[in-house]
Amino acid sequence: MKNRSLVSINDYTKAEYLKILDLAEEFEKNPKQNLLEKFVVATLFFEPSTRTRLSFESAASQLGAKVIGFSDATSSSVSKGETLKDTILTVANYSDIIVMRHPKEGSARFASEVSKVPVINAGDGGNQHPTQCLLDLYSIRKTQGKLDDLHIAFVGDLKYGRTVHSLVMALCNFNTTFHLVSPVELKLPSYVKMHIKKNNLNYFQYTELPDIMETADIIYMTRIQRERFSDPIEYEKVKNSYILTAGMLTNCKPNMRILHPLPRVNEITEDVDSTEQAYYFTQALNGVYVRQALLATILGAK
Ligand code: CP
Repeated sequence: MKNRSLVSINDYTKAEYLKILDLAEEFEKNPKQNLLEKFVVATLFFEPSTRTRLSFESAASQLGAKVIGFSDATSSSVSKGETLKDTILTVANYSDIIVMRHPKEGSARFASEVSKVPVINAGDGGNQHPTQCLLDLYSIRKTQGKLDDLHIAFVGDLKYGRTVHSLVMALCNFNTTFHLVSPVELKLPSYVKMHIKKNNLNYFQYTELPDIMETADIIYMTRIQRERFSDPIEYEKVKNSYILTAGMLTNCKPNMRILHPLPRVNEITEDVDSTEQAYYFTQALNGVYVRQALLATILGAK
């Protein structure tokens, strides 16, 4: 894994996921170490972010690395017409690793091909979000004590949800039963469903949220993403499809936990936050430890 880019969750094997998760457990116990003091981490965010960028920067800072980059491409020379290739070639001269978020699918793969330093995909359009996937796996293992033999329900925008695509693919390495709840317009893409079938696993599709409440070990809520719709009328039709409230949790399994990559808009009401099933803010905290594990592994410090 040393010096290797992470673009898609399929770039790592099951053994490699587990190695990152085990190392993240070590960082959770001891997050402040001077392991990366010789390194510079660049964070290039061409699309908005709170958790991914700041948890990467926190992870790097707590391990002693220097952090450079931008959170708004309009403050970089991209606004003068510089190409992605030229930006990457330049930043690779200033840093030891590049963490990049970009609105275009495939941009992270392209960046990894032109860069002389490893590139970590922090989300490329509606395609992949592999580091979110690893922190999701970490959160599932932490709350359930295992990754095999679980019923995982995905709710909301399964079509454009890059976190969903990455996590479904990763969970195909474990004995998962998938429950897919979405409006008809936002079903999981066929290529991801084919991946489930290729791994001899089962998925069930629903349009109503109550249908999965008693079965699920994990409910993975997602936001209907306004920014992925080219037609605002289509967004208006589906934007309030699923709203999870505390009152809906009465018959869920005792071990059930709610995950959400965040940000949320209105799909989980605030009364859920104080229930024992709410795990999404701890999930976001887990992102620091998982990203410490990734940086330390790729930079060869672990
Ligand atoms: N989960 C996630 O990607 O959140 P941000 O968009 O805030 O980084």
